[in-house]
Amino acid sequence: MNGPIRLRRNRDNRHIRELTRSVRLHPEQFIQPLFVVEGLAAREAVPGLKDVWRETPSSLLRQIEADLERGVSKFLLFGVPGEKREREFSRAFTSARLADIKGRFGDEVWVAADVCLCSYTTHGHCGILADDRAHLDNDVTVAALADAALEFAHAGADCVAPSDMQDGRVAAIRAALDGAGFQRRALMSYAAKFHSAFYGPFRVAADSAPGPANALRDRASYQIDPGRPDDALLAAERDAAEGADILMVKPGLPCLDVLARLSASVPLPWAVYQTSGEQAGIDLLAGHGLADPVRAQLETWTAFVRAGAHMIISYAARRAPLYLGRDPGTP
Ligand code: PBG
Ligand code: ZN
Repeated sequence: MNGPIRLRRNRDNRHIRELTRSVRLHPEQFIQPLFVVEGLAAREAVPGLKDVWRETPSSLLRQIEADLERGVSKFLLFGVPGEKREREFSRAFTSARLADIKGRFGDEVWVAADVCLCSYTTHGHCGILADDRAHLDNDVTVAALADAALEFAHAGADCVAPSDMQDGRVAAIRAALDGAGFQRRALMSYAAKFHSAFYGPFRVAADSAPGPANALRDRASYQIDPGRPDDALLAAERDAAEGADILMVKPGLPCLDVLARLSASVPLPWAVYQTSGEQAGIDLLAGHGLADPVRAQLETWTAFVRAGAHMIISYAARRAPLYLGRDPGTP
């Protein structure tokens, strides 16, 4: 051949870029997290996150209505009760919010309920402490999680999403749902959830930071160590075998390699969770005029789909319909 191979021909203009792109984003592949907090007089902003609030029961419904008008219809709900306990948790507040949402919007919305205990416990850990208070009691926690998932299914959740990282919770939750006739409710497992520094704003929003007064200081003894990617593969294979319908990798950008590897080896639908710290990073950069917010966001979302994600949980999901109306290659 004469002269160089001209790869730039397919980059030359917006039209040929649109035609030749193999990774595409669609507004319908996004899930918007929602926080609803018991006992608030008015909704509150979440430090570091744009357009995300700790909602009251009534502001929650108004926000979902606004989201639906924009074309955002899939949600992940985090309920935050006013009263914290050590065990025998009250899920009534969260269940009532699920019932409100499904009663008001029905099948116009798809709602996954987070299933964890960190917003419910006095100490902020994702489960029930053993008597030594230095580790979580896995099996006692799993039983409490299955109870919560069942209650959320009764309240109308389309999907339950355990984020606690105990062993055996997928099988226990699936059995509880099936035993009560909820065979059609989906289960999304945080299979590959790593111990991460990128969960900061979430813990303020969900009131779920393990306090410094705890003997068990952090979540390292139950979340996956970033240096042990094989653990994530084992967890994904196990959760698939236990009956999960959707598997998740979290956080997103720090775990793109894991997402690519796991989605290629476990043929279930894969979700990626672009976490609160990741989102705050993008918004801070854009807020300082150091990155175009739309291009930065679309670049990360494109990377997720390129790595094998079928769906994206993002705090900016409600901006996706707007952002996706713009060519990511054009400033
Ligand atoms: C807690 C939970 C966390 C997130 C979802 N569920 C944080 C944690 O494990 O401490 C992370 C969400 C985020 O940062 O956006 N079970
Ligand atoms: Zn938790």
